[in-house]
Amino acid sequence: MQTDTPKVDCAPAWTEAGTHAMSPLATHDEIARFNFLANLNKYMANVVVGGNKVAYDSRAKQAFRNTHGHEPQGRREIRAAMSVDPYYQMWSALRRNAMEMRQQAGRSMVLRQAEPLRDRARSLNAGAKNLQLHPNTPVPRYQSAIDNHCMPGSYYAEYLADDVSAAANYDAGMFATTTGLFGRYLDGAGRGIVEWLARRRPGWQPARILDLGCGVGHNTVPIAKAFPQSRVVAVDLAAPMLRYGHARARGMDIENIEFRQANVESLADADSAYDLIVSTMFFHETSSRALRNVLQEAARLLAPGGLHLHLEQTPYHAMEPFEQFLRDWDCYYNNEPFWTTVHDTQMLDVMRQCGFAADALFEDEIHAVVDLQMPKVGAEVEDFGRGGMWYAFGAERAA
Ligand SMILES: C[S@@+](CC[C@H](N)C(=O)[O-])C[C@H]1O[C@@H](n2cnc3c(N)ncnc32)[C@H](O)[C@@H]1O
Repeated sequence: MQTDTPKVDCAPAWTEAGTHAMSPLATHDEIARFNFLANLNKYMANVVVGGNKVAYDSRAKQAFRNTHGHEPQGRREIRAAMSVDPYYQMWSALRRNAMEMRQQAGRSMVLRQAEPLRDRARSLNAGAKNLQLHPNTPVPRYQSAIDNHCMPGSYYAEYLADDVSAAANYDAGMFATTTGLFGRYLDGAGRGIVEWLARRRPGWQPARILDLGCGVGHNTVPIAKAFPQSRVVAVDLAAPMLRYGHARARGMDIENIEFRQANVESLADADSAYDLIVSTMFFHETSSRALRNVLQEAARLLAPGGLHLHLEQTPYHAMEPFEQFLRDWDCYYNNEPFWTTVHDTQMLDVMRQCGFAADALFEDEIHAVVDLQMPKVGAEVEDFGRGGMWYAFGAERAA
């Protein structure tokens, strides 16, 4: 039978996600909820989204022209035209609800087992020199004032002593949110970095590696595995992420990562302390001032001959205004207040202002390396910011 409905493969089942020593236990209904959400996300990203352009071309553009006497110019005017259109409102409400449901699904699952999870982390972390918590580290306002991507309490909230529930929720729900595009262990970006490094600097063994805003170490682990002789320092503000991340890595027999609580705007390490400095999905959650502070600090910390490599979503200057408008959704409706500014920023200009030599800078594209049978990443499976395709920027310091 002939049909006009676009073909969409199912999202991988939640049970295909990789398990590890800290994985929360899930009931039948909890798994079913995640599977529903993953497929809802995938359907929205592949099918429902397309109706926005139809609504714009056939209705919203003309309505804007009737009022303003000209067609929408640029992302902001497209947003003004579309934010009153019922199709965009429906798509937007679906996305927001899907995110709230995802947080609810993850939190209800991990909060009912918060104590056993905490105890498991305690036992895996006992006496570990590689877990350096500094509870007096202030949480900067750009983190404390919002619940990032509708995650109640964001990354750092603690509900009991030595809590790991925020991290367990982040870990458990991300496979559904990203519909498998980051791989079974959510480490596609880190694996992509390893593959990129092997091409850019074949045989290079950076002795000291720094990961900025490491979270639970999803992308730190593949880098630590690729360079087993290296000392990796993974820094984050949030103690729950670090406790969970250290226990998770230990359960995988990874012993060369130090998980350290600190603000990466200012670190205690000596000048030139690291050969390789990386970040993944980090800068879009920092303020403009923090972005500059971090890059200045990172410039100070890079050793001669060293390399910076940072992965973010694709910047807006490489996109058509309508796509910019669609991607900007996260800023307005998903508690990502820095999303627009970071994606509008010419990162290489900022790096230059932060002390990097102009001829040392580079940009590139890095595809997530994914250990699942997935359709090829491209426009048709990009989830407007959560796809497995990364904009890479960085610098090489002369030896
Ligand atoms: C979106 S998560 C990304 C985690 C990780 N890089 C990954 O790829 O899975 C951003 C992380 O940055 C951390 N973060 C935000 N601002 C920070 C800062 N100033 N210093 C250290 N960590 C920070 C947050 O706590 C959070 O864990």
